[in-house]
Amino acid sequence: MKLLLLTLFAFAQASVHAEDIDSVLKQKLDFFRVYPMESMPVQENRAQIELGRRLFMEPALSGNRNISCMACHHPMKGMSDGLPLSRTEDRKGILKRNSPAVFNLGRPGHPFMFWDGRVHFEASTKTFTTPEKNLSKEITDVMTSALSAQALFPMVSMEEMKGKSGENEIADAKSNQEAWERIVQRLKNEKIEGRGKSYSELFLQAYPETPVQKINIGHVAEAIGRFESEQFQSTGSPFNQYLKGNTEALTLSQKKGLLVFMDRGCIACHQGSELGLNTFFASVGVPQWGAKPMQKDLGRGDINNETFRKLFFRTPSLLNVGLTAPYMHNGAFATLRDVINHYSNIKNSIETFSVSETTRTSLPVEVEVLNDQGSKSEIFRSVVAPFLRNGLNLSESEKNHLEAFLKEALTDPNWVPANSLVERPKNH
Ligand code: HEC
Ligand code: HEC
Repeated sequence: MKLLLLTLFAFAQASVHAEDIDSVLKQKLDFFRVYPMESMPVQENRAQIELGRRLFMEPALSGNRNISCMACHHPMKGMSDGLPLSRTEDRKGILKRNSPAVFNLGRPGHPFMFWDGRVHFEASTKTFTTPEKNLSKEITDVMTSALSAQALFPMVSMEEMKGKSGENEIADAKSNQEAWERIVQRLKNEKIEGRGKSYSELFLQAYPETPVQKINIGHVAEAIGRFESEQFQSTGSPFNQYLKGNTEALTLSQKKGLLVFMDRGCIACHQGSELGLNTFFASVGVPQWGAKPMQKDLGRGDINNETFRKLFFRTPSLLNVGLTAPYMHNGAFATLRDVINHYSNIKNSIETFSVSETTRTSLPVEVEVLNDQGSKSEIFRSVVAPFLRNGLNLSESEKNHLEAFLKEALTDPNWVPANSLVERPKNH
């Protein structure tokens, strides 16, 4: 089905006049089954959401009490961190991946988390597949989504939140299970600043049927997941208004960009109202770079021995993409124009990729590009669709319209930093 769409995109490309562009767009949007999105119903357990909100901003979740989830998923940075590659918790190193925005991940159709989908939830059988093979039933029984299960892992990642052994009791734990138990223990003893309340009280309010001694890391993760699901919804883009029938919501240039997006096959992978496809992994030939010595990032190819998916990454949603630069799993491209130029001629993009001096000097470590000929041709050969390998050769005006569409039409005014009323976190 997904691959079928890859070949179907070559829709009649008649030249389009301003007067009839709306009817042409309507036809094509119907054909590709792009429907408007509504916000989700408000969740009933408010105490759980409030607990999740606290935890999302809680530095005590990190071994050295120096970083919270929000540091890397910040409302002032489009729910990302504005960096090509995220910083380690001590700020002295860099991770190998770009921090993704976390919009709309609680909606149906998001069973995979992370760029390589290494956290997965199969709802029909209620099974979790994660990097932790021994996730106990007490923990999995509490969680209801991939989004919740994801939250378990930054806490036990040395680079993201845990810190190095010798630095704190969580990093000294011998297993993930033990580290999670110590985090829960720490939280239960933790007072919440300025509120005269402790987490034990919040746990009791959020999970009234569970005695506090039975609270485990699953309860922590589930509260975070529920909070993220509700808080980080984004349905206010002009694009969504347009889908709902307001033809004034987009400018002519943005409409032409939407047309390019469909006619040139972007829609084959970036599908539906979120212009993404959580269950679809692909390679679009993104050049590789990272901290020296550079290790190739095989993405999906490293999970479950799926070697036939070497260099594949998840197809991200493009909503709010104007707010979340830099782009791709490794932040290889600084601007949307760079992304468009890449798609226009992937071969050339891989051949000529370099890391700018400004980026290099902004990083705490030395970086390198994987640019030996063998790696470059491997990346190029991994590109899934012939029409992408051949190069889209977009014209200047196609590029301009596409950029206008991506940059402006997909941006939800509620998430533009200038409009944000969210308090800044204590750290960073
Ligand atoms: C040091 C920065 C950092 C911190 C702290 C951090 N994250 Fe992330 N987050 C990332 C990066 C980088 C990725 C992508 C990693 C990957 O795909 O391998 C990511 C991925 C995610 C994803 C998956 C998004 C998607 O579309 O697949 C979610 C959800 C998320 N983080 C939530 C959280 C939560 C909740 C916390 C706190 C418990 C947290 N993050 C802490 C950097 C961070
Ligand atoms: C074959 C499927 C496929 C097609 C066709 C495709 N994309 Fe993508 N797109 C992806 C995947 C997969 C990624 C993530 C790649 C990575 O990080 O290595 C991505 C990433 C992106 C990103 C970066 C998003 C972010 O948050 O970092 C943008 C922007 C984008 N694509 C726009 C487009 C446009 C515009 C087109 C058409 C010219 C297009 N895509 C065609 C699969 C596709």
